[in-house]
Amino acid sequence: MTALLSVEGVRVSYGRIEAVRGVDLAVAPGEFVGVIGSNGAGKSSLMRAIAGVLKPAAGRVSFDGAEVTRLKSHQMVAKGLAMVPEGRMVFADQTLRDNLLLGGFSRMRTDRAGVMRDLERVLVLFPRLRERLDQEAGTLSGGEQQMLAIARGLISKPRLLVIDELSLGLAPLILDMLFPVLSSLNREGLSILLVEQMASYALAVTDRTYVMENGRVLFEGRSADLARDPRVLDAYLGRRRAA
Ligand SMILES: Nc1ncnc2c1ncn2[C@@H]1O[C@H](COP(=O)(O)OP(=O)(O)OP(=O)(O)O)[C@@H](O)[C@H]1O
Ligand SMILES: [Mg+2]
Repeated sequence: MTALLSVEGVRVSYGRIEAVRGVDLAVAPGEFVGVIGSNGAGKSSLMRAIAGVLKPAAGRVSFDGAEVTRLKSHQMVAKGLAMVPEGRMVFADQTLRDNLLLGGFSRMRTDRAGVMRDLERVLVLFPRLRERLDQEAGTLSGGEQQMLAIARGLISKPRLLVIDELSLGLAPLILDMLFPVLSSLNREGLSILLVEQMASYALAVTDRTYVMENGRVLFEGRSADLARDPRVLDAYLGRRRAA
């Protein structure tokens, strides 16, 4: 089967700093894929290169069988790839409704009835957002801002949703609500690429996981297997080494 997303030999540099040093990665249609790794491993840089936020220094990105390496992020959204960036990046002084409707894809659309249907669809997913449509996004709780960021990504009806650090700064109670939402979206057919610091959460919901360190993929495998792999247990799941 052709991969929905295929990344080959991608490199990302910031001046002299090489953040991503030749990464291969793929997401099959309908797959839920995780990326874990320490701070500074290059996870966000890789996601930015995939989503068209920055241009890779080398390598190739394909989406749905076509090369997209040089496309910009709004062109990637139009192709069906949406990203929830690290830190959410909501417009703090705009209302939740404006964040959803003015941001990104919706702004370019003219079919108002269709936009309203899409808004309704994401509000069904996150009822807390409906009660707060007129609230400024900056006054939302961290969990609500993450719901907004996900809703903003979903409103363009992507085929692949890229999420960079779902759990950042969020309490376990909120995570226990957000992760099942992702699982159910995935069961309905949405492909998801999730970068996550909380390895135990990511390994529990994803089909397959890549482990990144120093700009490279160290190893990759089925999440159920990696959850029992000593390399993962020691470095990412906090297992104490035997004395
Ligand atoms: N805009 C930038 N300019 C210069 N260097 C950068 C920039 N963004 C990231 N880097 C560097 O690239 C490397 C990888 O950073 P990146 O944010 O991709 O890692 P990460 O795996 O997402 O880390 P974290 O888990 O902390 O989010 C780091 O050494 C970082 O300092
Ligand atoms: Mg990051």
